[in-house]
Amino acid sequence: MEATGELPEPHFKVLGNSLLSQIHIHQDYGGVYPMLAKREHIKNLPVLLEKILEEAGGMEGVDVIAVTAGPGLEPALWTGIEFAKDLGEKWKKPVLPVNHMHGHMFSFLFEPSELVKFPALALLVSGGHTEIVLMKSFKDYEIIGKTRDDAVGEAFDKVARLLDLPYPGGPKISALADMHRQKGLASEIIFPRPMINTDDFDFSYSGLKTSVLYTIKKLGVLNEEKKEEIAHAFEDAAIEVLIEKTKRALDKFGASTLIVGGGVSANRYLQERLRGLALELALDLRLPPPALTTDNAIMIGIGAYVAILNHPKILGTTREITAQGNLGI
Ligand code: KG4
Ligand code: ZN
Repeated sequence: MEATGELPEPHFKVLGNSLLSQIHIHQDYGGVYPMLAKREHIKNLPVLLEKILEEAGGMEGVDVIAVTAGPGLEPALWTGIEFAKDLGEKWKKPVLPVNHMHGHMFSFLFEPSELVKFPALALLVSGGHTEIVLMKSFKDYEIIGKTRDDAVGEAFDKVARLLDLPYPGGPKISALADMHRQKGLASEIIFPRPMINTDDFDFSYSGLKTSVLYTIKKLGVLNEEKKEEIAHAFEDAAIEVLIEKTKRALDKFGASTLIVGGGVSANRYLQERLRGLALELALDLRLPPPALTTDNAIMIGIGAYVAILNHPKILGTTREITAQGNLGI
């Protein structure tokens, strides 16, 4: 990827991009299985590198190699780090560790757009994280709320499993929910909205999943229509909490810009509700381009470039890069 320009309006051009999904391998486990992920990374990374170098016409012009250092599954992170370090030595280029969540948070910069007005809020929603970040500038930000148990994407995946839908469940739940919504049928199923009225910006999704489990147990055998109804009721509850908490945080911190990132930001209903919120509050809403919602390498390149612009000396400092499974923002 070629990155030029300064904050707040950097410019990115993708020279080569390739993605190898492991989803079919993890489906039997209903989620990502760490040692399998590691084995697949070791196998796939050289293949991917060859493909992108072919597309980009070689490695000439490469100034820096960016690699995810965390958060995430450490065996998988280590594989990427070792691969990047070897490449750095071979090509004699610096290797820059990038925070996965910075990748999600700055994905919106891929689309050229207007200046961001600070303070801004970032809503980061993925399979491992549900966070509201207060951004005072591009380099001064802090988490003001996060999930106390499951992440929202994780809840989508777990509910999908309860409904016998394959991993990852988010897109499938969303499709079923939309089908039921379009039919306009009344429903008696209403799931709780955990922590919706608490005086903070934290979330909790494990109780919601348990409520879905009890409802499914009570109903017994589910036909397609019941599955759609459950998916609809679950999605309504999960998304409403995100919208309510975000709305309150925007109000409390006087933010008029809302940045969104992470796999769940692909959710059609969440996007619809966010657009509604943007209209209601005259918000500047920044969603990632659709291809950059779920995990991808481009967002890590964007995260690296933002770090370089924020801290120009970063490339000159050598430090040991380690995998940090629980790396904060
Ligand atoms: O950011 P991401 O690709 O990986 C992590 O960093 O976790 O997010 C993956 C999560 C999964 O839980 C997946 O089910 C969810 O994002 N997801 C969705 C949708 N697309 C992906 N959840 C709801 N609706 C979707 N359309
Ligand atoms: Zn992610």
